[in-house]
Amino acid sequence: MITYREMRQSDIPALLDMIWKMWAGPKVKAKPGVAIHYAEMVLYYELLNSTVSFVADDNGRAAGVCVLDIKDGHPMHTEYLMKMIDAVAAMSKDPDGLENLKHSTNANRVFKDSEEVLEGKNYGAEVALFILDDQHRGQGIGSGMFNHIANYLNDHGVEKFYLHSDESSYHHFYGDHRGMDLLDSRPSDGSLGAIDNVTLYIYADDVKDQMHL
Ligand SMILES: CC(C)(COP(=O)(O)OP(=O)(O)OC[C@H]1O[C@@H](n2cnc3c(N)ncnc32)[C@H](O)[C@@H]1OP(=O)(O)O)[C@@H](O)C(=O)NCCC(=O)NCCS
Repeated sequence: MITYREMRQSDIPALLDMIWKMWAGPKVKAKPGVAIHYAEMVLYYELLNSTVSFVADDNGRAAGVCVLDIKDGHPMHTEYLMKMIDAVAAMSKDPDGLENLKHSTNANRVFKDSEEVLEGKNYGAEVALFILDDQHRGQGIGSGMFNHIANYLNDHGVEKFYLHSDESSYHHFYGDHRGMDLLDSRPSDGSLGAIDNVTLYIYADDVKDQMHL
């Protein structure tokens, strides 16, 4: 049975495994010793600014994660910052890791630039990371997680939220299945996941619209 609960440190190995399998570029994926650092970089980058993270729990094992960042000025988690720096350093020791770093840095800059469309609009939270492992996709678990986080945000007074997605992800989920508004799309100017020059998207919605879908 699937339940939704807060992430624990013991969930991290399962989360790292699903992240690199989904998003590491092909050359890095072929080197699991490097790919694990790629996954650490992605996960710790999101956790360092997180407010709370929920996992979908399948009989005690994390089947997916959703990282939330409520924009209320909460402090950074410096323990994750240190871990992220270690992961970047480890990636940069490998030529394919270094190449991947350069590409994703470019794409992340475009992500940040595109956030202009959010300015002055009071988006109180960001869904910073959302992934299920491949055995648990397409069974309604992601939708259940979305309802769970919408209820959490509503309980914490957040009215509107946003997220980034891109073509290396199942981005149709947000528009087609959750009815979120597409605020912006633009080319990444760099690779993300296994694809070069993907399109990046920003979706947003009212929390209340997501609570009972
Ligand atoms: C995106 C994700 C979290 C959605 O969770 P999920 O549990 O698979 O989604 P649900 O089962 O609730 O799906 C809702 C709908 O999306 C469809 N869907 C979900 N993932 C799909 C996929 N990869 N391909 C095709 N359809 C998919 C489901 O079939 C379902 O359609 P229906 O309502 O018409 O039956 C999950 O698919 C996932 O982890 N994907 C890989 C990582 C990713 O892309 N994350 C988003 C990053 S921004």
